[in-house]
Amino acid sequence: MSKQHLLTPYNKNISLNNRVVMAPMTRSRADNAGHIPTDDLHGLYYEQRASAGLIITEGSQVSTQAVGYVNTPGIYSDEQVEGWKKVTQRVHDNGGKIFIQLWHVGRMSHPIFITGSYHYRLQP
Ligand SMILES: Cc1cc2nc3c(=O)[nH]c(=O)nc-3n(C[C@H](O)[C@H](O)[C@H](O)COP(=O)(O)O)c2cc1C
Repeated sequence: MSKQHLLTPYNKNISLNNRVVMAPMTRSRADNAGHIPTDDLHGLYYEQRASAGLIITEGSQVSTQAVGYVNTPGIYSDEQVEGWKKVTQRVHDNGGKIFIQLWHVGRMSHPIFITGSYHYRLQP
């Protein structure tokens, strides 16, 4: 595949400006009590990468019990949804497309990330 082909638009199930897809990468930048993606960190980071055909965001937890890593953003509260809307708008304003990666890390988590709950502890 030539470099030129990589940079050509893709128009099948989705229309992309090019065939470059940014892989999901946890950045641990949701350093706030609500695990909210912020305009100044997340918004800027993803806007700067909007020239990729498609961005897949860092893994984002679907509930308070789904956290596996420090300072990862969520998408289970209204504030988080609003934060992601701003991120998405900045990517769209710069010509990009963005999908969110949803995750629930299951029992690989640690109690410190799931408010002290031992819900995932194996039974003896
Ligand atoms: C700093 C860092 C953070 C990552 N975070 C995620 C993540 O949130 N979700 C995920 O599915 N993969 C994550 N990955 C894996 C990357 O998506 C993966 O490295 C990429 O797809 C390239 O695949 P490879 O490492 O097998 O070559 C992360 C990788 C790195 C280096």
